[in-house]
Amino acid sequence: MKRSLIDILDLSVEELDELVAKAQDIMANPAKYAHKCDGKKLATMFYEPSTRTRLSFEAAMYELGGNVLSVASAASSSAAKGESVADTAKMISCYADILAMRHPKEGAPLVAAMNATIPVVNAGDGGHNHPTQTLADLLTIHCEKGRFDHLTIGLCGDLKFGRTVHSLIAAMCRYPGVKFVLISPTELKLPSYVKTEHIKPSGHTYEQTTDLESVMPELDVLYMTRVQKERFFNEEDYLRLKDSYILTPDKLKNAKKDLIIMHPLPRVNEISVAVDNDPRACYFKQALYGKFMREALILKLLEVE
Ligand code: NCD
Repeated sequence: MKRSLIDILDLSVEELDELVAKAQDIMANPAKYAHKCDGKKLATMFYEPSTRTRLSFEAAMYELGGNVLSVASAASSSAAKGESVADTAKMISCYADILAMRHPKEGAPLVAAMNATIPVVNAGDGGHNHPTQTLADLLTIHCEKGRFDHLTIGLCGDLKFGRTVHSLIAAMCRYPGVKFVLISPTELKLPSYVKTEHIKPSGHTYEQTTDLESVMPELDVLYMTRVQKERFFNEEDYLRLKDSYILTPDKLKNAKKDLIIMHPLPRVNEISVAVDNDPRACYFKQALYGKFMREALILKLLEVE
């Protein structure tokens, strides 16, 4: 049966371990994988802006020897003529072997998966989920911290609309001893469904605060996020909240020596460029790890040995 990836919980913990191991093997032995997808095609259909996710999917497919068909915007596709997601997904199934899809509407990739005859990957659906960013995040945590368990993870910024945060929390809830520190302005707090569906049933503890500096010393991972301008109903609110947190070298003075600083990118103002040279800054590496995880995922969903 064809598998899709719509939600990070579509993958079991064992499957995540396998993907991490596979991505690490791809990193170490790229030549071994250079022809694994010869003759296969990935379609990327992105109805919202993207640099990393789309290009890393495409680079991943090329590195596996496959080819890419790309729809870079809704405006340049038949969506502009009124075609439904379901119909588009059926069409793409005629031309490609796997589809990576980003859409402003929550649930659109699920609708695509229900109608496509090929695997569909959710590359971000509105303010909901972003499971392949979580794959990149997990590989980063594994490579940089050596484990997923017993970590205190600070998530900072727009926890309301930040879909990468929602998927990362769902994934990390499955490992023992994880503590979440939720740092945001009151208006951008984590939606309560993420707490009730994921954090509370896992029995993990969480702390909510508006003050990044006061919690800095306890963090093993600091996951910064951009205030999601495109999800705001009025510009005034965005302008008021956009610079709520700006990470500077000074604010890192009391941080652990082995903290890792992550960010799904793009960064706007929330991490000063002066932090980039700090050895704890992992966000550009994180983008590279994303490509290897997407290679591992493509191999898995296409059932390539
Ligand atoms: C994120 C996204 O699209 O949700 N970007 C990404 O895919 N790396 C984060 C963001 O846009 O802020």
